[in-house]
Amino acid sequence: MKPILVGGSIHPALTAALADALGLTPAARTLERFPDGELHVTVKEPVRGADVYLVQPLAPPPDAHLLELLFLADACRRAGAARITAVVPYLAWARQDRRRADGEPLGVRLAADLLSARADRVLSVDVHGAAAEGFFSVPLDHLTAIPALAEAIARVAPRDAVVVAPDLGAAKRAEAFGRLLGLPSACVHKARLSAREVAVRGVSGEVAGRAPIVVDDMISTGATIEAAVRTLLEAGCRPEVVVAATHPLLVPGAAERLAALSLARLVVTDALPVPALPGLATEVVPLAPLLAEAIRRLREERPLAELLATS
Ligand code: R5P
Repeated sequence: MKPILVGGSIHPALTAALADALGLTPAARTLERFPDGELHVTVKEPVRGADVYLVQPLAPPPDAHLLELLFLADACRRAGAARITAVVPYLAWARQDRRRADGEPLGVRLAADLLSARADRVLSVDVHGAAAEGFFSVPLDHLTAIPALAEAIARVAPRDAVVVAPDLGAAKRAEAFGRLLGLPSACVHKARLSAREVAVRGVSGEVAGRAPIVVDDMISTGATIEAAVRTLLEAGCRPEVVVAATHPLLVPGAAERLAALSLARLVVTDALPVPALPGLATEVVPLAPLLAEAIRRLREERPLAELLATS
């Protein structure tokens, strides 16, 4: 029996590319809002006994997209699906993995509880904080797009480049890129002042005279990348800056912020829909091949091995 692929509303292009890579046609479904704003979904194809894959990155606004995914999962479960896998290339709330103050919730734990309540398995990519896996009571297969991004960077990076983490949290990611690209790595020390502002406390590693490749898991407001790039240029880096990230959240204002940095190249994946980025030389690395390979291996009960994130 062929698997069934159902897409949520946010990323039809990724659903179509994944369906294509697996030789499937996305299942018909409707997603509508009743006059009072209530969500209503219908999966139009029979799923009884089927291995179902629901595709929905938790792009902004993540709460609405999570609820849609849960409704689709509930619909499939009640219609008798044998196994439901939530394909969530971008897992929102992963930055809320610990309480910084009394009175805060544990955002990613709640998202994990909700997903675990309706899906049998979750597939995600470059989750911020690998420890998030521990919050899920169903298996979370944590895939990585680092090799695919590194391949794209390798086509444009000069030989004397340095891979730079824009904060300590990205240091292992930068080292992983460095190993794949045969380049040294360095780290910018960032402190977050608010949701939209950061400050830099220094840089560790040899960066002067080198072309920086700044790598992060996500770009939201662009504040982290902007601070890192400006610091690196002040520290004597060459101005051919490449920036790479798995998740282009790119909230309003981020594209302009990045365009002002005159980047040589921005490399992102299509884990989220990529908005128009005027003035930015952008390369979008498709995730469908990685997700399709993971799904094929799950169905054939083969190990995911090198597809999985290790840092
Ligand atoms: C933080 O630890 C993350 O890895 C990113 O560096 C951060 O969330 C990016 O956000 P923004 O683009 O708003 O600085």
